[in-house]
Amino acid sequence: MTSALNLALAKIVPSVITDKDLIASYTSDWTGRFNGKADVVVRPQNAAQITEVVLLCKKFGVAIQIQGGNTGLVGGSVPPPNSLRPICLMSTSSLNSILDFDVVTGHITVGAGVSVAQVQSTVRARGWEFPIDLASRESATIGGLVATNAGGIRVCAFGMTKQSVAGIEMVLADGQVISNLTSPLKDNTGYPISDLAVGAEGTLGIITAVRMKLIRPTLSSTLFVIPCDSVQLAYETLLSVQKAGHNLLAAEYVDAKSMQLIMSYSQLRPLWPVPPNVTVFIEVAGSNIQLDADPRALGTSNAGEMRNFWKYREAASDSWTAAGKVHKLDVSVAVDQIGTFESKLSAMLSNFEIVTSYGSFGHLADGNLHIEIVGPAQDDYEIDKSVLELVAKFNGSISAEHGIGRAKREYLGLTRDAIDIELMKKIKEVFDPEKLFNPGVLLPD
Ligand code: FAD
Ligand code: LAC
Ligand code: ZN
Repeated sequence: MTSALNLALAKIVPSVITDKDLIASYTSDWTGRFNGKADVVVRPQNAAQITEVVLLCKKFGVAIQIQGGNTGLVGGSVPPPNSLRPICLMSTSSLNSILDFDVVTGHITVGAGVSVAQVQSTVRARGWEFPIDLASRESATIGGLVATNAGGIRVCAFGMTKQSVAGIEMVLADGQVISNLTSPLKDNTGYPISDLAVGAEGTLGIITAVRMKLIRPTLSSTLFVIPCDSVQLAYETLLSVQKAGHNLLAAEYVDAKSMQLIMSYSQLRPLWPVPPNVTVFIEVAGSNIQLDADPRALGTSNAGEMRNFWKYREAASDSWTAAGKVHKLDVSVAVDQIGTFESKLSAMLSNFEIVTSYGSFGHLADGNLHIEIVGPAQDDYEIDKSVLELVAKFNGSISAEHGIGRAKREYLGLTRDAIDIELMKKIKEVFDPEKLFNPGVLLPD
Protein backbone atom coordinates (compact mmCIF):
# COMPACT_ATOMS: atom_id res chain seq x y z
CA MET A 1 0.00 0.00 0.00
CA THR A 2 2.70 2.50 0.94
CA SER A 3 4.63 1.83 -2.28
CA ALA A 4 1.44 2.60 -4.24
CA LEU A 5 1.16 5.79 -2.17
CA ASN A 6 4.82 6.64 -2.80
CA LEU A 7 4.39 6.24 -6.54
CA ALA A 8 1.34 8.48 -6.49
CA LEU A 9 3.16 11.04 -4.29
CA ALA A 10 6.09 11.14 -6.72
CA LYS A 11 3.69 12.27 -9.44
CA ILE A 12 2.69 15.29 -7.32
CA VAL A 13 5.82 16.36 -5.45
CA PRO A 14 9.38 16.49 -6.85
CA SER A 15 10.92 15.60 -3.49
CA VAL A 16 9.67 12.28 -2.05
CA ILE A 17 12.04 10.58 0.41
CA THR A 18 11.71 6.84 1.01
CA ASP A 19 15.26 5.96 2.04
CA LYS A 20 15.17 4.83 5.71
CA ASP A 21 18.34 6.68 6.74
CA LEU A 22 17.18 9.89 5.13
CA ILE A 23 13.74 9.56 6.71
CA ALA A 24 15.46 9.10 10.09
CA SER A 25 16.97 12.58 9.80
CA TYR A 26 13.41 13.97 10.06
CA THR A 27 11.98 11.79 12.80
CA SER A 28 14.04 12.85 15.85
CA ASP A 29 13.38 16.16 17.50
CA TRP A 30 15.90 18.88 18.40
CA THR A 31 16.40 17.55 21.92
CA GLY A 32 16.71 13.87 20.97
CA ARG A 33 14.03 13.03 23.54
CA PHE A 34 11.30 12.38 20.97
CA ASN A 35 11.90 9.83 18.23
CA GLY A 36 9.20 8.62 15.88
CA LYS A 37 8.63 6.65 12.70
CA ALA A 38 7.48 7.84 9.28
CA ASP A 39 6.92 5.79 6.13
CA VAL A 40 7.71 8.57 3.72
CA VAL A 41 8.81 12.23 3.75
CA VAL A 42 7.55 14.78 1.23
CA ARG A 43 8.75 18.32 0.65
CA PRO A 44 6.04 20.06 -1.39
CA GLN A 45 6.75 23.44 -2.96
CA ASN A 46 3.34 25.12 -2.94
CA ALA A 47 -0.21 24.98 -1.61
CA ALA A 48 -1.50 23.23 -4.74
CA GLN A 49 0.91 20.31 -4.24
CA ILE A 50 0.00 20.19 -0.54
CA THR A 51 -3.70 19.95 -1.40
CA GLU A 52 -3.04 17.02 -3.70
CA VAL A 53 -0.88 15.26 -1.09
CA VAL A 54 -3.58 15.78 1.54
CA LEU A 55 -6.27 14.28 -0.69
CA LEU A 56 -4.03 11.33 -1.54
CA CYS A 57 -3.17 10.62 2.10
CA LYS A 58 -6.85 10.85 2.99
CA LYS A 59 -7.66 8.32 0.26
CA PHE A 60 -4.94 5.91 1.48
CA GLY A 61 -5.80 6.36 5.19
CA VAL A 62 -2.34 7.79 5.87
CA ALA A 63 -1.79 10.37 8.64
CA ILE A 64 0.28 13.51 8.01
CA GLN A 65 2.95 14.74 10.40
CA ILE A 66 3.67 18.41 9.67
CA GLN A 67 7.20 19.68 10.21
CA GLY A 68 8.74 23.15 9.79
CA GLY A 69 12.28 23.76 11.09
CA ASN A 70 12.00 20.92 13.66
CA THR A 71 13.16 23.19 16.49
CA GLY A 72 10.06 22.54 18.61
CA LEU A 73 10.80 21.33 22.14
CA VAL A 74 7.68 19.30 22.97
CA GLY A 75 7.80 16.47 20.42
CA GLY A 76 5.07 18.00 18.23
CA SER A 77 7.23 18.18 15.12
CA VAL A 78 8.03 14.48 14.87
CA PRO A 79 5.74 11.46 14.42
CA PRO A 80 4.89 9.02 17.21
CA PRO A 81 7.00 5.85 17.46
CA ASN A 82 4.07 3.44 17.39
CA SER A 83 1.37 4.68 15.03
CA LEU A 84 -1.13 2.11 13.79
CA ARG A 85 -1.62 4.16 10.60
CA PRO A 86 1.17 4.78 8.09
CA ILE A 87 2.62 8.27 8.39
CA CYS A 88 3.65 10.73 5.72
CA LEU A 89 5.93 13.42 7.17
CA MET A 90 5.36 16.67 5.34
CA SER A 91 8.18 19.18 5.57
CA THR A 92 7.13 22.73 4.73
CA SER A 93 10.75 23.86 4.36
CA SER A 94 10.49 24.23 0.56
CA LEU A 95 7.75 26.87 0.88
CA ASN A 96 10.60 29.32 1.24
CA SER A 97 9.72 32.39 -0.82
CA ILE A 98 9.08 35.96 0.26
CA LEU A 99 5.74 36.57 -1.45
CA ASP A 100 5.00 40.23 -0.79
CA PHE A 101 6.40 43.24 1.09
CA ASP A 102 3.96 46.08 1.59
CA VAL A 103 5.86 49.13 2.86
CA VAL A 104 2.69 51.18 3.28
CA THR A 105 1.07 48.83 5.77
CA GLY A 106 4.35 47.41 7.08
CA HIS A 107 3.32 43.84 6.26
CA ILE A 108 5.37 40.99 4.86
CA THR A 109 3.82 37.86 3.34
CA VAL A 110 6.02 34.77 3.27
CA GLY A 111 5.83 31.05 2.56
CA ALA A 112 5.45 28.96 5.72
CA GLY A 113 8.94 27.51 5.34
CA VAL A 114 10.83 30.81 5.38
CA SER A 115 13.10 30.98 8.44
CA VAL A 116 12.81 33.69 11.08
CA ALA A 117 16.38 34.80 10.30
CA GLN A 118 15.51 35.18 6.61
CA VAL A 119 12.53 37.38 7.46
CA GLN A 120 14.64 39.40 9.88
CA SER A 121 17.37 40.13 7.33
CA THR A 122 14.85 40.87 4.56
CA VAL A 123 12.90 43.42 6.58
CA ARG A 124 15.98 45.02 8.19
CA ALA A 125 17.38 45.71 4.74
CA ARG A 126 14.29 47.85 4.11
CA GLY A 127 14.12 49.75 7.38
CA TRP A 128 11.70 47.53 9.27
CA GLU A 129 11.98 45.05 12.14
CA PHE A 130 10.33 41.69 12.79
CA PRO A 131 8.76 41.80 16.26
CA ILE A 132 9.65 38.23 17.24
CA ASP A 133 13.15 37.06 18.05
CA LEU A 134 14.32 33.75 19.45
CA ALA A 135 17.55 31.76 19.62
CA SER A 136 16.30 29.16 17.08
CA ARG A 137 15.94 31.90 14.43
CA GLU A 138 18.21 30.25 11.82
CA SER A 139 16.08 27.08 11.64
CA ALA A 140 12.62 27.95 13.01
CA THR A 141 10.11 28.73 10.27
CA ILE A 142 7.28 31.23 10.14
CA GLY A 143 4.78 28.37 9.81
CA GLY A 144 6.18 26.81 12.99
CA LEU A 145 6.18 30.16 14.75
CA VAL A 146 2.49 30.62 14.01
CA ALA A 147 1.57 26.98 14.73
CA THR A 148 3.17 27.24 18.19
CA ASN A 149 2.35 30.91 18.81
CA ALA A 150 6.01 31.30 19.70
CA GLY A 151 7.24 33.83 22.24
CA GLY A 152 10.93 34.68 22.55
CA ILE A 153 12.81 37.52 24.18
CA ARG A 154 10.72 40.46 22.88
CA VAL A 155 7.30 39.41 24.18
CA CYS A 156 7.33 42.00 26.98
CA ALA A 157 7.66 44.71 24.32
CA PHE A 158 5.82 43.42 21.24
CA GLY A 159 3.74 40.40 22.32
CA MET A 160 3.59 36.75 21.27
CA THR A 161 3.44 35.73 17.60
CA LYS A 162 -0.36 36.00 17.55
CA GLN A 163 -0.14 39.76 18.13
CA SER A 164 1.73 40.12 14.83
CA VAL A 165 -0.19 37.77 12.55
CA ALA A 166 -2.19 39.68 9.92
CA GLY A 167 -3.20 36.81 7.64
CA ILE A 168 -2.88 33.05 7.14
CA GLU A 169 -3.33 30.63 4.24
CA MET A 170 -4.00 27.05 5.33
CA VAL A 171 -4.81 23.78 3.57
CA LEU A 172 -7.58 21.88 5.34
CA ALA A 173 -8.07 18.13 5.74
CA ASP A 174 -10.61 17.99 2.88
CA GLY A 175 -8.17 19.77 0.55
CA GLN A 176 -9.92 23.15 0.68
CA VAL A 177 -7.78 26.22 1.27
CA ILE A 178 -8.74 29.05 3.63
CA SER A 179 -6.97 32.38 3.32
CA ASN A 180 -7.22 35.91 4.57
CA LEU A 181 -3.83 36.92 3.19
CA THR A 182 -5.31 39.58 0.95
CA SER A 183 -8.29 40.62 3.06
CA PRO A 184 -8.59 44.33 3.83
CA LEU A 185 -6.76 45.42 6.97
CA LYS A 186 -10.06 45.94 8.73
CA ASP A 187 -12.48 43.05 8.37
CA ASN A 188 -14.94 42.44 11.19
CA THR A 189 -17.21 39.98 9.45
CA GLY A 190 -17.72 37.18 11.91
CA TYR A 191 -15.51 34.48 13.41
CA PRO A 192 -11.81 35.05 12.57
CA ILE A 193 -11.46 31.47 11.29
CA SER A 194 -7.82 31.64 10.21
CA ASP A 195 -6.77 32.82 13.67
CA LEU A 196 -7.56 29.33 14.96
CA ALA A 197 -4.38 28.14 13.26
CA VAL A 198 -2.33 30.19 15.73
CA GLY A 199 -1.19 27.89 18.52
CA ALA A 200 -3.08 24.89 17.06
CA GLU A 201 0.26 23.06 16.63
CA GLY A 202 -0.70 21.84 13.16
CA THR A 203 -3.78 19.95 14.35
CA LEU A 204 -6.25 21.91 12.21
CA GLY A 205 -4.43 22.25 8.89
CA ILE A 206 -1.20 22.94 7.06
CA ILE A 207 -0.20 26.60 7.11
CA THR A 208 1.24 27.45 3.70
CA ALA A 209 1.76 31.23 3.91
CA VAL A 210 1.55 33.96 6.54
CA ARG A 211 1.23 37.73 6.49
CA MET A 212 3.03 39.35 9.41
CA LYS A 213 2.85 42.86 10.80
CA LEU A 214 6.25 44.51 11.14
CA ILE A 215 7.44 47.26 13.48
CA ARG A 216 9.94 50.09 13.06
CA PRO A 217 13.32 49.28 14.59
CA THR A 218 14.28 50.68 17.99
CA LEU A 219 17.18 52.90 16.96
CA SER A 220 19.20 52.59 20.13
CA SER A 221 19.06 50.56 23.30
CA THR A 222 21.04 49.77 26.42
CA LEU A 223 21.55 46.26 27.75
CA PHE A 224 22.27 45.66 31.43
CA VAL A 225 23.62 42.39 32.73
CA ILE A 226 23.00 42.33 36.45
CA PRO A 227 24.05 39.82 39.12
CA CYS A 228 21.29 38.91 41.59
CA ASP A 229 21.09 36.66 44.62
CA SER A 230 17.75 35.09 43.74
CA VAL A 231 14.96 35.06 41.17
CA GLN A 232 12.89 37.09 43.64
CA LEU A 233 15.57 39.81 43.64
CA ALA A 234 15.71 39.58 39.85
CA TYR A 235 11.97 40.31 39.81
CA GLU A 236 12.51 43.27 42.18
CA THR A 237 15.20 44.62 39.85
CA LEU A 238 12.73 44.44 36.97
CA LEU A 239 10.12 46.15 39.13
CA SER A 240 12.45 49.08 39.78
CA VAL A 241 13.26 49.39 36.06
CA GLN A 242 9.54 49.50 35.27
CA LYS A 243 8.82 51.99 38.04
CA ALA A 244 11.55 54.26 36.64
CA GLY A 245 9.53 54.44 33.42
CA HIS A 246 12.03 52.88 31.02
CA ASN A 247 10.85 51.49 27.71
CA LEU A 248 11.46 47.77 28.32
CA LEU A 249 12.66 45.68 25.37
CA ALA A 250 13.65 42.47 27.16
CA ALA A 251 14.02 41.09 30.68
CA GLU A 252 15.52 37.61 30.97
CA TYR A 253 17.25 35.52 33.62
CA VAL A 254 19.68 32.60 33.81
CA ASP A 255 20.37 30.68 37.03
CA ALA A 256 23.84 29.64 38.22
CA LYS A 257 23.63 26.01 37.06
CA SER A 258 22.49 27.06 33.59
CA MET A 259 25.24 29.70 33.42
CA GLN A 260 27.88 27.11 34.31
CA LEU A 261 26.69 24.86 31.44
CA ILE A 262 26.44 27.82 29.04
CA MET A 263 30.03 28.87 29.69
CA SER A 264 31.45 25.41 29.11
CA TYR A 265 29.19 24.66 26.09
CA SER A 266 29.85 28.00 24.35
CA GLN A 267 33.35 28.52 25.76
CA LEU A 268 32.42 31.88 27.26
CA ARG A 269 34.29 33.47 30.12
CA PRO A 270 32.70 34.27 33.50
CA LEU A 271 31.12 37.73 33.69
CA TRP A 272 32.24 38.30 37.30
CA PRO A 273 34.97 36.77 39.50
CA VAL A 274 32.29 35.30 41.78
CA PRO A 275 29.40 33.75 39.84
CA PRO A 276 26.02 35.05 41.03
CA ASN A 277 23.02 32.84 41.78
CA VAL A 278 21.09 34.54 39.00
CA THR A 279 22.16 36.65 36.01
CA VAL A 280 19.58 39.12 34.70
CA PHE A 281 19.54 40.63 31.23
CA ILE A 282 17.49 43.83 30.94
CA GLU A 283 17.36 45.79 27.69
CA VAL A 284 15.69 49.20 27.50
CA ALA A 285 15.26 51.67 24.65
CA GLY A 286 17.70 54.58 24.39
CA SER A 287 21.47 54.79 24.46
CA ASN A 288 23.68 55.08 27.52
CA ILE A 289 20.76 54.84 29.92
CA GLN A 290 21.62 54.92 33.62
CA LEU A 291 20.07 52.40 35.95
CA ASP A 292 19.92 52.38 39.73
CA ALA A 293 21.18 48.80 40.06
CA ASP A 294 23.84 46.63 41.69
CA PRO A 295 27.27 48.38 41.26
CA ARG A 296 28.58 45.19 39.59
CA ALA A 297 25.97 45.56 36.80
CA LEU A 298 27.43 45.67 33.30
CA GLY A 299 25.81 48.04 30.82
CA THR A 300 26.38 48.79 27.17
CA SER A 301 24.77 50.44 24.16
CA ASN A 302 27.37 49.08 21.75
CA ALA A 303 25.69 46.69 19.29
CA GLY A 304 28.62 44.23 19.18
CA GLU A 305 28.93 44.12 22.97
CA MET A 306 25.20 43.61 23.35
CA ARG A 307 25.31 40.67 20.90
CA ASN A 308 28.15 39.15 22.92
CA PHE A 309 26.20 39.43 26.17
CA TRP A 310 23.07 37.96 24.57
CA LYS A 311 25.12 34.87 23.60
CA TYR A 312 25.08 33.82 27.25
CA ARG A 313 21.31 33.83 27.41
CA GLU A 314 20.71 32.40 23.94
CA ALA A 315 22.87 29.32 24.51
CA ALA A 316 20.87 28.26 27.59
CA SER A 317 18.53 25.67 26.07
CA ASP A 318 21.14 24.01 23.84
CA SER A 319 23.67 23.91 26.71
CA TRP A 320 21.27 21.79 28.74
CA THR A 321 20.47 19.61 25.72
CA ALA A 322 24.19 18.93 25.36
CA ALA A 323 24.34 17.96 29.05
CA GLY A 324 22.27 14.81 28.55
CA LYS A 325 18.74 13.59 27.89
CA VAL A 326 16.97 16.49 29.52
CA HIS A 327 13.35 16.90 30.54
CA LYS A 328 12.47 20.39 29.35
CA LEU A 329 9.48 22.12 30.88
CA ASP A 330 8.23 25.54 29.87
CA VAL A 331 5.85 27.01 32.42
CA SER A 332 4.49 30.37 33.50
CA VAL A 333 3.09 31.94 36.63
CA ALA A 334 1.96 35.46 37.47
CA VAL A 335 5.03 37.68 37.05
CA ASP A 336 5.07 38.75 40.70
CA GLN A 337 5.00 35.07 41.76
CA ILE A 338 8.06 34.01 39.78
CA GLY A 339 10.45 34.25 42.77
CA THR A 340 8.19 32.31 45.16
CA PHE A 341 7.50 29.69 42.50
CA GLU A 342 11.18 29.21 41.69
CA SER A 343 12.17 28.69 45.33
CA LYS A 344 9.32 26.17 45.88
CA LEU A 345 10.36 24.39 42.68
CA SER A 346 14.02 24.17 43.74
CA ALA A 347 13.04 22.82 47.13
CA MET A 348 10.84 20.20 45.47
CA LEU A 349 13.37 19.09 42.86
CA SER A 350 16.21 18.82 45.37
CA ASN A 351 14.11 16.24 47.22
CA PHE A 352 13.92 13.84 44.28
CA GLU A 353 16.84 11.40 44.46
CA ILE A 354 16.41 10.52 40.80
CA VAL A 355 17.14 14.14 39.76
CA THR A 356 20.89 14.45 39.23
CA SER A 357 20.85 18.05 38.07
CA TYR A 358 18.33 20.80 37.44
CA GLY A 359 18.14 24.49 36.72
CA SER A 360 16.09 27.19 35.10
CA PHE A 361 16.30 30.26 32.92
CA GLY A 362 13.69 32.22 31.07
CA HIS A 363 11.64 35.25 30.31
CA LEU A 364 11.52 37.14 33.62
CA ALA A 365 9.08 39.82 32.48
CA ASP A 366 6.59 37.17 31.29
CA GLY A 367 6.71 35.02 34.44
CA ASN A 368 8.02 32.29 32.12
CA LEU A 369 10.52 29.71 33.41
CA HIS A 370 12.27 27.11 31.27
CA ILE A 371 13.00 24.28 33.67
CA GLU A 372 15.63 21.68 32.80
CA ILE A 373 15.83 18.37 34.66
CA VAL A 374 18.46 15.67 34.18
CA GLY A 375 18.20 12.22 35.73
CA PRO A 376 14.83 10.63 35.09
CA ALA A 377 14.54 8.27 32.09
CA GLN A 378 13.18 9.75 28.88
CA ASP A 379 9.77 8.15 29.30
CA ASP A 380 9.53 8.70 33.06
CA TYR A 381 6.99 11.48 33.50
CA GLU A 382 6.70 11.41 37.31
CA ILE A 383 8.85 14.49 37.92
CA ASP A 384 7.33 16.37 34.97
CA LYS A 385 3.91 15.73 36.49
CA SER A 386 4.96 16.97 39.94
CA VAL A 387 6.34 20.20 38.45
CA LEU A 388 3.21 20.78 36.38
CA GLU A 389 1.01 20.15 39.42
CA LEU A 390 2.97 22.79 41.30
CA VAL A 391 2.39 25.17 38.37
CA ALA A 392 -1.35 24.44 38.57
CA LYS A 393 -1.32 25.31 42.30
CA PHE A 394 0.11 28.70 41.30
CA ASN A 395 -2.68 29.18 38.75
CA GLY A 396 -0.02 29.15 36.05
CA SER A 397 0.24 27.54 32.64
CA ILE A 398 1.89 24.17 31.88
CA SER A 399 3.11 25.61 28.59
CA ALA A 400 4.00 29.27 28.31
CA GLU A 401 5.32 29.28 24.75
CA HIS A 402 6.48 25.88 23.41
CA GLY A 403 3.04 24.29 23.19
CA ILE A 404 1.71 20.94 24.37
CA GLY A 405 3.03 18.69 21.58
CA ARG A 406 3.33 15.04 22.51
CA ALA A 407 5.05 15.80 25.84
CA LYS A 408 2.25 17.39 27.81
CA ARG A 409 -1.06 16.36 26.26
CA GLU A 410 -2.01 14.21 29.27
CA TYR A 411 -1.63 17.24 31.54
CA LEU A 412 -3.64 19.77 29.56
CA GLY A 413 -6.48 19.53 32.10
CA LEU A 414 -4.20 20.75 34.88
CA THR A 415 -4.38 24.36 33.73
CA ARG A 416 -7.17 24.44 31.09
CA ASP A 417 -10.84 24.12 32.03
CA ALA A 418 -12.80 21.03 30.98
CA ILE A 419 -15.08 23.19 28.84
CA ASP A 420 -12.04 24.56 26.96
CA ILE A 421 -10.79 21.05 26.20
CA GLU A 422 -14.28 19.94 25.13
CA LEU A 423 -14.49 22.90 22.71
CA MET A 424 -10.99 22.19 21.39
CA LYS A 425 -12.03 18.60 20.61
CA LYS A 426 -15.16 19.86 18.83
CA ILE A 427 -13.12 22.32 16.76
CA LYS A 428 -10.70 19.51 15.84
CA GLU A 429 -13.69 17.39 14.80
CA VAL A 430 -14.98 20.16 12.51
CA PHE A 431 -11.61 20.81 10.85
CA ASP A 432 -10.16 17.31 10.79
CA PRO A 433 -12.74 14.61 11.55
CA GLU A 434 -10.46 11.76 10.34
CA LYS A 435 -7.53 12.99 12.48
CA LEU A 436 -5.33 13.26 9.43
CA PHE A 437 -3.03 15.96 10.82
CA ASN A 438 -0.52 15.45 13.64
CA PRO A 439 -2.34 12.60 15.43
CA GLY A 440 -1.48 12.55 19.13
CA VAL A 441 -0.26 16.15 19.21
CA LEU A 442 -1.96 18.58 21.62
CA LEU A 443 -5.09 16.48 22.18
CA PRO A 444 -4.97 12.84 23.31
CA ASP A 445 -5.83 10.37 20.49
P1 FAD B 1 8.59 22.69 14.20
O1 FAD B 1 9.44 22.40 15.36
O2 FAD B 1 8.92 21.99 12.94
O3 FAD B 1 7.07 22.37 14.58
C1 FAD B 1 6.49 22.83 15.77
C2 FAD B 1 4.97 22.54 15.71
O4 FAD B 1 4.37 23.34 14.68
C3 FAD B 1 4.64 21.09 15.36
O5 FAD B 1 3.47 20.73 16.03
C4 FAD B 1 4.41 21.14 13.85
O6 FAD B 1 3.58 20.11 13.39
C5 FAD B 1 3.76 22.51 13.69
N1 FAD B 1 4.03 23.14 12.40
C6 FAD B 1 5.24 23.53 11.90
N2 FAD B 1 5.08 24.10 10.69
C7 FAD B 1 3.74 24.08 10.43
C8 FAD B 1 2.94 24.51 9.32
N3 FAD B 1 3.48 25.07 8.24
N4 FAD B 1 1.60 24.32 9.39
C9 FAD B 1 1.03 23.75 10.47
N5 FAD B 1 1.74 23.30 11.54
C10 FAD B 1 3.08 23.48 11.51
N6 FAD B 1 10.11 28.92 21.32
C11 FAD B 1 9.58 30.04 21.85
O7 FAD B 1 8.36 30.19 21.85
N7 FAD B 1 10.37 31.01 22.40
C12 FAD B 1 11.72 30.91 22.43
O8 FAD B 1 12.40 31.77 22.96
C13 FAD B 1 12.31 29.75 21.84
N8 FAD B 1 13.64 29.60 21.82
C14 FAD B 1 14.18 28.47 21.31
C15 FAD B 1 15.56 28.32 21.32
C16 FAD B 1 16.15 27.17 20.83
C17 FAD B 1 17.65 27.05 20.83
C18 FAD B 1 15.33 26.11 20.33
C19 FAD B 1 15.93 24.86 19.78
C20 FAD B 1 13.96 26.26 20.31
C21 FAD B 1 13.36 27.42 20.80
N9 FAD B 1 11.98 27.60 20.79
C22 FAD B 1 11.44 28.74 21.31
C23 FAD B 1 11.10 26.55 20.28
C24 FAD B 1 10.87 26.59 18.75
O9 FAD B 1 11.95 27.22 18.08
C25 FAD B 1 9.58 27.31 18.38
O10 FAD B 1 8.51 26.58 18.90
C26 FAD B 1 9.35 27.50 16.89
O11 FAD B 1 8.19 28.27 16.71
C27 FAD B 1 9.19 26.20 16.12
O12 FAD B 1 9.27 26.46 14.73
P2 FAD B 1 9.66 25.29 13.71
O13 FAD B 1 9.55 25.82 12.33
O14 FAD B 1 10.96 24.70 14.07
O15 FAD B 1 8.49 24.25 13.96
C1 LAC C 1 14.41 30.01 25.28
C2 LAC C 1 13.66 28.88 24.65
C3 LAC C 1 14.06 27.56 25.14
O1 LAC C 1 13.80 30.95 25.75
O2 LAC C 1 12.29 29.07 24.67
O3 LAC C 1 15.67 29.99 25.27
ZN1 ZN D 1 11.72 30.80 25.79
